[in-house]
Amino acid sequence: MTQQTAQPTPEPIRFAYWVPNVSGGLVISRIPQRTSWDADYNRELARIAERAGFDYALTQIRFTAGYGAEYQHESVAFSHALLAATDRLKVIAALLPGPWNPTLAAKQVATISQLTGGRIAVNIVSGWFSGEFRAIGEPWLDHDERYRRSEEFIRSLRGIWTQDDFSFRGDFYRYSNYTLKPKPAEPLPEIFQGGSSRAARDMAARVSDWYFTNGNTPDNIRTQVEDIRHKAAAEGRQVKIGVNAFVIARDTEEEARAVLREIIDHADPEAVRAFGHEVKNAGAASPEREGNWATSSLEDLVQYNDGFRSNLIGTPDQIAERILALKDAGADLALLGFLHFQEEVKYFGEQVIPRVRALEAARAERRAAA
Ligand SMILES: Cc1cc2nc3c(=O)[nH]c(=O)nc-3n(C[C@H](O)[C@H](O)[C@H](O)COP(=O)(O)O)c2cc1C
Repeated sequence: MTQQTAQPTPEPIRFAYWVPNVSGGLVISRIPQRTSWDADYNRELARIAERAGFDYALTQIRFTAGYGAEYQHESVAFSHALLAATDRLKVIAALLPGPWNPTLAAKQVATISQLTGGRIAVNIVSGWFSGEFRAIGEPWLDHDERYRRSEEFIRSLRGIWTQDDFSFRGDFYRYSNYTLKPKPAEPLPEIFQGGSSRAARDMAARVSDWYFTNGNTPDNIRTQVEDIRHKAAAEGRQVKIGVNAFVIARDTEEEARAVLREIIDHADPEAVRAFGHEVKNAGAASPEREGNWATSSLEDLVQYNDGFRSNLIGTPDQIAERILALKDAGADLALLGFLHFQEEVKYFGEQVIPRVRALEAARAERRAAA
């Protein structure tokens, strides 16, 4: 098997945004934010995003407060509300194995898929917050065991969605000649997954359609992409890659940098430290120490998925160039967070996406001419 390199895909890069379905926005900071976690704000945001050129929205699942996020709407029900408010947007519902089992998840999502013409997708998350598991009486498994369970969860979902008389004997889930009717509408819900440890990458290579990872530099993304593509190819599979980034797009670079400074200056140090403690604990159990947050600084953690590290902070031209650099590193999708979501998603659609498309078109012309 030859090593796969992170060749950029000729497809246009896709855009997703984080649904702010938990309170406090996407940064652990007391900076004033016009983002709201309520349903009306989010329905309007979904319509703005769809018009702006976003393909996907990603909901979050939290069962208790942590890093703030005091209020949390549930992800599947909330996803359905956003789908009902939009026409084209695909909404990715986060599912946490443990609280969800694959039987209920497969049925819920199949029904939503039928109701929405196949616009629902799922993000299987494996858990990082032991306090949350304790609070809801769920056993806290070791890092790699969490991924073993998530892999069985994904195999079960896929089996239930695609086969009649589905049978499966795992350590966590079992099925015996189970037939789900109706199955989801076509196209089948895409299966995303979050995490960046070795266990996360190996699971992506074996069973996921999409691998979501925390914000990072193009070089570090390329390393992950090459690892996953190599392993997926050995399984005869292809996995697409989504990279997190927190966008601060302003007319001048100085303005954008000043906003970043303000977010960090207003960070809630107690909450950031508590979050850092939880995630480093969770990741420390990953044997090779390469999990999400393994090398995050306190400033990185102010955006809780390392979104500043992708450096989409500057003018629309700078951001468009950097998105192309992420694409060159192998990203198929940019997953984006913003400070004031509604206004900034609109601005991103007007100012950044057309620049990205122009850069992509110029490259395609150069390739054709070569
Ligand atoms: C894009 C993305 C979205 C995530 N969403 C959630 C979520 O909604 N709820 C949750 O508990 N964990 C979420 N996670 C956490 C992951 O499932 C995983 O537990 C975490 O990244 C640690 O993974 P690692 O140590 O294997 O790298 C998300 C991770 C990523 C990268």
